[in-house]
Amino acid sequence: MNKSFCAINNEFEENKQMNVLILGSGGREHAFAWKIAQSNLLNQLFIAPGNAGTMQFGTNLNINPTDFNALKQTILQNKIELVVVGPEDPLVKGVHDFFLNDIDLKNVAVIGPQKYAAQLEGSKEFAKEFMVRHNIPTAAYKSFTTKNLEEGYQFLETLQPPYVLKADGLAAGKGVLILTDLQEAKDELTDMLTNKKFGEASSKVVIEEFLDGIELSCFVLTDGKSYVTLPSAKDYKRIGEGDKGLNTGGMGAVSPVPFLTSELMERIDAQVIKPTVDGLQKDNIPYVGFIFIGLIMVKNEIKVIEYNCRMGDPETEVVIPLIKSDFLELLIATSKKELHTKTIEFKDESACTVMLVSGGYPEDYEKGKVINGLDTVENSIPFHAGTTLLNNEIVTNGGRVIAVTSYGSDFKQALKQSYQNIEKISFDRMNFRKDIGFDL
Ligand code: AMP
Ligand code: GLY
Repeated sequence: MNKSFCAINNEFEENKQMNVLILGSGGREHAFAWKIAQSNLLNQLFIAPGNAGTMQFGTNLNINPTDFNALKQTILQNKIELVVVGPEDPLVKGVHDFFLNDIDLKNVAVIGPQKYAAQLEGSKEFAKEFMVRHNIPTAAYKSFTTKNLEEGYQFLETLQPPYVLKADGLAAGKGVLILTDLQEAKDELTDMLTNKKFGEASSKVVIEEFLDGIELSCFVLTDGKSYVTLPSAKDYKRIGEGDKGLNTGGMGAVSPVPFLTSELMERIDAQVIKPTVDGLQKDNIPYVGFIFIGLIMVKNEIKVIEYNCRMGDPETEVVIPLIKSDFLELLIATSKKELHTKTIEFKDESACTVMLVSGGYPEDYEKGKVINGLDTVENSIPFHAGTTLLNNEIVTNGGRVIAVTSYGSDFKQALKQSYQNIEKISFDRMNFRKDIGFDL
């Protein structure tokens, strides 16, 4: 990193150490904590609420990230100067706005967009309108409410199956339905709109053209003007091998995406990333944080499937380990809108992660199972997702439990390393996919 570019600033003196708070409790937050703890710019690290993994790098605080008043208290008490928001929920609920509007918090830097911009993830219709306005390629669509339900049926009749129905709002990753039968699509549309199948989230439904292709994701860190593109990744969302079965939060990930050539990356930058950041500026939408862009390659065409206003999980567990530069320094520059003064360096390697999950997940599962063998892991990083400490033992505390990340000269080597270490880890009814990367 070129230090000569660093501007001296009154708010954060250069090289002054600071206290940082990470919001969230998953593998993504453990990976953030792992990386931020390596920075010379860190004084004390706090994680709210964190997990048994984040405890190795800082102090876990038993606070819900959407309890803004409790966050305020702890931030003032612990002299926290920078907050990194992991999940979307606090962002969509306006955590950043809460800080800006509070006289005591307005100088605390927040990495994560304000409520209006977080609609890129929080409202499918908002995201689609944004893409159309800025000529960003995406599937053709129309949106419907109970007021024009009949038109919704008619629109479905004009489409070829499969039919893609998306609840407009946040629905914990469950709000997208892909149906092959027209009548079933009409029935689901009724269920979403009239019967509020996904609560308020489905009081509006976006129906869009089905895109058939291979998916990949890009990650951007932006201060609203400049941006850096982080390594690409591909995640594996289905519970079953061969991408079968129910959707999960993600069962594994590979970074960078091996088929993503520099020529293709340039096209993604020109057609999607730059127009997205420029579009935010044109629309006067401030944005400090990550943009996770879900893409699909349809034959040779790039289309945006979705935006998220945060990093992905488990994608973070492969993207962050590939960053060589001081991540906290980058976050500070982002918060000061000085990202253009920084360069970012990456490792010339691959990183892969395999998620160990509780038996039964993504449906009902039990918690509190003792996790054995974590201390025998060699040359992999076990990022904790759903874990907690109980009577001095690390036990399961969620559906997704541990993301076993490894490096390799290519993704196959990295995966081999993760699978070797997984053999040493066990807990009752532990499950994982043995075929991460199978399609690459
Ligand atoms: P989303 O929440 O919008 O990312 O959608 C979840 C998943 O549904 C995506 O990762 C895709 O696998 C699939 N999906 C969403 N939109 C489409 C589409 N227009 N065509 C095909 N698959 C889609
Ligand atoms: N792994 C997908 C997500 O974080 O949304």
